This record gives sequence, structure tokens and C-alpha cells, in this order.
Amino acid sequence: MQTADSNIVAPESLDLKQLALLGQGRTADVFLFRDRFVIKVFRPNFPKQAIDNEYLVCRSIGSVVDIPKAYQRLVVAGRDAIIFDFTKGESGFRHLFRNPWNITGFAREFAAIHARIHLTSVPDEVPELKSILVRNINLHDHLTTETKTKIIKYLDRLPGGNKLCHGDFHPENILMGGGKPFVLDWMTATRGNPLADVARTSILLKWAPGLLPSSRFCSAASEGSSTDIT
Ligand SMILES: Nc1ncnc2c1ncn2[C@@H]1O[C@H](COP(=O)(O)OP(=O)(O)O)[C@@H](O)[C@H]1O
Ligand SMILES: [Mg+2]
Repeated sequence: MQTADSNIVAPESLDLKQLALLGQGRTADVFLFRDRFVIKVFRPNFPKQAIDNEYLVCRSIGSVVDIPKAYQRLVVAGRDAIIFDFTKGESGFRHLFRNPWNITGFAREFAAIHARIHLTSVPDEVPELKSILVRNINLHDHLTTETKTKIIKYLDRLPGGNKLCHGDFHPENILMGGGKPFVLDWMTATRGNPLADVARTSILLKWAPGLLPSSRFCSAASEGSSTDIT
């Protein structure tokens, strides 16, 4: 396969075992490809809609924040994939682990990037946040129909919005490349109210296992954000 903006050729029969595994998240394995690209290969049966969304968002948000450039949406070894530029660096979480004295500075920078994302308008094809939440609430196995109805009614009363929301903004989705933060993992990006995106990040920082960068990080991040989260 060939793209318009580069001569990257990634055959569908590519043997992933020959490539160096750079990282693994909850949804994908990321391999180094030809020294300057990565192939993000999604787990089998991962929803195509989310993969298309990551590709669309990465192709359309331009210079809002630094992201690895996305080149191609493809299938390799029978799995959906996207080719990006390789960004040499370490995750924000690892960066914090190695530079604990920089926790306040990093938290402020982290929040400032989030606030910059929230100033951005997005194409109409990017799904609307509230409708995605309604879908996810309805798909949840552990809630009764009554509880789902209550939550959805409450959600209905909350203000909507039309700004870019990342949907999974946490230090593991930041890659410190050459001292500069790159934002990864745009699969769950939506159009919505930035406060919902800030709330999601606050919950992730507080409760998600392995992501807990301390209350000092959280308070510095809220100081660094121009979004009023009180
Ligand atoms: N463009 C890239 N350059 C270098 N490493 C990357 C790149 N994209 C992803 N990675 C590595 O792969 C990991 C998982 O990627 P990510 O897009 O966050 O996938 P997931 O959706 O599975 O979390 C990242 O934390 C990072 O270590
Ligand atoms: Mg990730």
C-alpha cells in the first residue's frame, strides 16, 4: 500500500514478529517500522469506528498540539493498523518517575496541553461526546435499566459543547520526545464540553491503576489549566 504524502509501503502480509515492539497499551501493540515509523496494530476485533476516528482526528488537528504524524490506515497480518511517525522518547509517566522533582512543572505543562486541545473545533464526523456516553452507559453490564435511565436523564441536563476532547488524557498517553511532549492515542476523541474531558482525566488520575501520579500532580495540574474546574 502507498500513501499520498510518503513512500511508505507496508504489505498486508508483513510479519509483525520481525519488528521491534515499542509499546503496548490496552488496545494496541506498537511496532517500530523502517526506523522512522511505527505501526500501531489494534487488537483483533477492536471496533473499526474507533480506529477510523483516531486516524481522522490525527489527520485533521494539525498544529494544535504536537502529535506523531499519521500516514496511513491499513490492515497488516489481518489486523487493523495505523502508520505514524516514530517519536523517540519516554512516556510522561516514566518521565515523572525519573524526574520526580519536576512533578509540578510537568503537571502544569500537562494541563496547559489539555487546555490547548480544548480550544480546538473539530470536523463534524468526529462523534459527539454525549451520544458516545449514552451508548457506553447502555452497553454497560453492571447497571440496571433504572440506573441507566437516571444517569442518561442527568446527562441530558448537562451542557453540551463542540470542542475537541481527547477522551483518554493521562500521562501514559504523553510521549516526551526530545524534551517536547507529544500527545498519543486519539481513538476516543470526541466533540464535546471540555469540562467533561477534564472530569474524565481527574477520574483517571485518581482511580485508574498504575496512573496515579499523586495528589501534588493533580493540584498542580488544576492550577495549570485555564479551564475552570471548580
Ligand atoms: N508514534 C509513536 N512513537 C513511539 N512510540 C509510540 C508511538 N505511538 C505509540 N507508542 C508507544 O506505544 C504505546 C501504546 O500506544 P497508544 O497509542 O497509547 O496505544 P493504546 O491505545 O493501546 O494505549 C505508547 O504508550 C508508546 O509507548
Ligand atoms: Mg495509550
